[in-house]
Amino acid sequence: MDNFAGGTAAPETEPVAVEPEVPTRLLPVAELHLHIEGTLQPELIFALAERNGIALPYSGLEELRARYEFTDLQSFLDLYYANMAVLQTEQDFADMTRAYLERAAAAGVRHAEIMMDPQAHISRGIPLDTCVNGVASVLATSEEDYGISTMLIAAFLRDLSEESALEVLDGLLAMNAPIGAIGLDSAEVGNPPSKFERLYAKAREAGLRLTAHAGEEGPASYIIEALDILGVERIDHGIRCMDDPDLVERLVDARIPLTVCPLSNVRLRAVDTLADHPLPAMLAAGLNVSVNSDDPAYFGGYVDDNFTQLEAAFELSDFDKARLAANSIHSSFASEERKAELLDELNSGEVTH
Ligand code: ADE
Ligand code: ZN
Repeated sequence: MDNFAGGTAAPETEPVAVEPEVPTRLLPVAELHLHIEGTLQPELIFALAERNGIALPYSGLEELRARYEFTDLQSFLDLYYANMAVLQTEQDFADMTRAYLERAAAAGVRHAEIMMDPQAHISRGIPLDTCVNGVASVLATSEEDYGISTMLIAAFLRDLSEESALEVLDGLLAMNAPIGAIGLDSAEVGNPPSKFERLYAKAREAGLRLTAHAGEEGPASYIIEALDILGVERIDHGIRCMDDPDLVERLVDARIPLTVCPLSNVRLRAVDTLADHPLPAMLAAGLNVSVNSDDPAYFGGYVDDNFTQLEAAFELSDFDKARLAANSIHSSFASEERKAELLDELNSGEVTH
């Protein structure tokens, strides 16, 4: 009051600059390339180890995190499979799935197609229904609980035999597992898609949707095999298509979705740095690419982190970001009704991701 009355005294406090409250809006996306076992965060690995009385070969979080320096896909897979030892009970699989959905919701994910590796659990003596039911029990209510519609994808390990994959697919079908698709993952080079022709024929017959990792470390010819021999609808990764201009033209013409995982490609040294990633060239070529996190606990980020780091590395326009989000929705195996709902959501607001 004195200040107003006297007119000359200095104000007692500095005026506070108030930033206008701009409501931020996450870009609604579909995550199409995500391994649920790759969402096991170090803290959860230690918590589950303690709950299950499992001795880990690391003294603590620091020592575990120090191992997240990968030289290639195999160096990651070795740690990824080793850490699965902590997954023992349905509850463990459920807790891991809940943790992912909670984080994914914060990243703007509105639909998620989630791969799991049943063979990696069966080979450790974990029954098929334990791993499937643990994950599926959480996915069953994911839309109500997290606003994320979901589909479970059974992924098969390509470094194992086709017989093993067929046996597990039979088991999944016999238990009427709530899976909507199959995928193919693990060590790519030397394990071409053609090795799994009968598996994919059987899955197609069973009415399952089809996707496969191809062209991550392996050559462009593996992408061609996945399309021609396995009949997949979608390619996981696919970045090596850029080595083959005829293949790029084919993928563009057929609008084949490529579920690209930029941070994964950097961490597994498929590309030298994010600035060297082919994503901008893929977009410019007209390829149907989406941005996904692959194994976010291991590669330094979820879908939102992938977008943020891409923005820092490239001048991605709002238009490009919206295109990537729309591609993810169009490329999903969600119902036409759900896709329309998510596209409406995407088109109704300003992009701030
Ligand atoms: N399993 C989990 N992540 C994978 C990846 N990026 N490539 C192949 N197999 C995987
Ligand atoms: Zn993957």
